[in-house]
Amino acid sequence: MAWIESLMTPILTGLVLLWVILGGKHLHKHEHFFYLIFGLLGVSLTMFAVFFQLDIIPRPDNLLYPILFQGHLALAFYLLVMFAGAFKHKSKAKITLLRVRRELAVIGFFMVMPHATLLIIDALSALNPTGTIAVFLMVPLVITSFPIIRRKFSRDGWLGFHKWAYITYGLIFVHLVTITVIAQTPPNNAYEELWWLRLLIYTSIFVVYLVLKFRNNALPKLKTKIFMKA
Ligand code: HEM
Repeated sequence: MAWIESLMTPILTGLVLLWVILGGKHLHKHEHFFYLIFGLLGVSLTMFAVFFQLDIIPRPDNLLYPILFQGHLALAFYLLVMFAGAFKHKSKAKITLLRVRRELAVIGFFMVMPHATLLIIDALSALNPTGTIAVFLMVPLVITSFPIIRRKFSRDGWLGFHKWAYITYGLIFVHLVTITVIAQTPPNNAYEELWWLRLLIYTSIFVVYLVLKFRNNALPKLKTKIFMKA
């Protein structure tokens, strides 16, 4: 079970990606329906998180815990939001992910609510505010993703404002590193013993993201600048 829990982020990211590939058009067309379903799910799970906190009911002792309450499902959605911006311009991967980027970000936010509610006391008492700051930054980004609000911005203004998303990506990475390296060592259970595996997975994912982002976004701009100067 500890191995499956530790591989939960790549497993869930793969499943969400499969959904995007097979049902992305449907998700985009019926986005409000999916916001309603995931919004209700997020609010219900957040209520359960409060009940766990107050010891009214015990935390689930099965895979539902890491999936829904330990942040892995939310991370799966956010990784795809991140990678949508990193693939090559006009590539199939980019087009597929960009079509549902807003939907993934909003659903990811609903899925982070139960995790954040359940663990906020643990995190802040361990002086680890990284996840909390990331969630606070996500709120205006999610609200301004809705077309009705987005229309109030100029194109450049909106794009400039949404550059704040990079700060949330950085904070999420710091969150994962600090949790695995500081909070889970020395390990207290079988899951924590595999802290190194999850650290390796998270670091590899973020390194691949940075390499793609540099190759597909920064490098062409750099080349144009050098070409213009020459
Ligand atoms: C208010 C916001 C947040 C708080 C208070 C928070 C708190 C925590 C805490 C205390 C843990 C350790 C849990 C444990 O060991 O059982 C944790 C783990 C985790 N968090 Fe967060 N978090 C927040 C936001 C986020 C966000 C925005 C993401 C990603 C989208 C995220 C993804 C994860 C993941 C994947 C883990 C598991 C790390 C591992 O064990 O390998 N969290 N979080």
